[in-house]
Amino acid sequence: MTADKADRNKTIDTPLSKGQAFLDRCITVTQRQADLDTVMDKTINGDMFGVCPLLPPESVDLIIADPPYNLTKTFSGTTFTKKKEIDYEEYTRQWLRAVKPLLKEDGSIYVCCDWETSLIVGRVLGEFFHVRNRITWQREKGRGAKANWKNGLEDIWFATNSNQYVFHLDAVKIRKKVIAPYREDGEPKDWTETEDGNYRNTCPSNFWDDITIPFWSMAENTAHPTQKAEKLIAKIMLASSSENDVVFDPFLGSGTTSVVAKKLNRHYIGIEIEAQYCVWAEQRIEMATGNKEIQGYVNGVFWERNSLSEQKASRRGTKKAPSSKSHIRKTDPSMPRAEADNH
Ligand SMILES: C[S@@+](CC[C@H](N)C(=O)[O-])C[C@H]1O[C@@H](n2cnc3c(N)ncnc32)[C@H](O)[C@@H]1O
Repeated sequence: MTADKADRNKTIDTPLSKGQAFLDRCITVTQRQADLDTVMDKTINGDMFGVCPLLPPESVDLIIADPPYNLTKTFSGTTFTKKKEIDYEEYTRQWLRAVKPLLKEDGSIYVCCDWETSLIVGRVLGEFFHVRNRITWQREKGRGAKANWKNGLEDIWFATNSNQYVFHLDAVKIRKKVIAPYREDGEPKDWTETEDGNYRNTCPSNFWDDITIPFWSMAENTAHPTQKAEKLIAKIMLASSSENDVVFDPFLGSGTTSVVAKKLNRHYIGIEIEAQYCVWAEQRIEMATGNKEIQGYVNGVFWERNSLSEQKASRRGTKKAPSSKSHIRKTDPSMPRAEADNH
């Protein structure tokens, strides 16, 4: 497979037959775990419905779940078949029931879905958690339809276990060019003047249009059919977890959640049923050793799409970063959230 790839094609597609060393790093869990010692920073090769009941209750800070959407799709050798709406609803209920006990009282959960399953996921999520928001990610890739609008979005639901949860607003601000720089008494108002241009770090909304789906020339790309971008997972993780927290992904796929956790100094636990994907996940986790790079996230700031030259300049240190006070907010949603909502 690898021999036929174009020079710039970085896609990770190590076949299972050559990936034994990576598979050997994965574990199986067949007995109840009193604590996280055995499973911490591991890829568990198994079925999340069987493994979750064996993990210790209230042990993880953040769950990021990207389950199969309600489409007929083959994951490695296994085909997920489109279900009747009521059956997908029950499937969603069952996996949420399995992960719920693992989340700490002040933990958060994010669930990815497409527009169709979003109608179901949002509803069922509310049976178990406090639903906080629905993020819409505008994805530029999508197949045109003859008698319908091309699908150009996915949803990510955000929910918490209680009214106590972390939300690190400053960690997820987006750096934007200032088009009309406004001054007060000659000084920039809410923006920063640099040699390379004028910028403002803005509060992120629930509409994300700065994330590209991984493609063949990106180092993070694998042959997984539904891989999420590291940048997307990084936003979730930076907002809703702290360093050394435990992040759990019950549908790990190519390992994006674990890789990002490692790069951002979080602990990770991931479950993936397909051995082939476990190989790619572990390969990526190894590649992340000593490599903290996340495309589109440079010097602690998320950048708009098509700002590669500015990002490079920032990496070289030619740009003075606008100040970004980083603080943890234990948010009570009944409190006014002017800072978050007014930008
Ligand atoms: C939508 S993909 C996740 C992709 C992942 N976010 C990534 O970035 O690569 C869903 C994954 O769940 C896995 N899966 C499906 N059912 C599972 C189960 N019962 N237990 C564990 N993994 C499962 C599939 O093999 C597939 O890789």
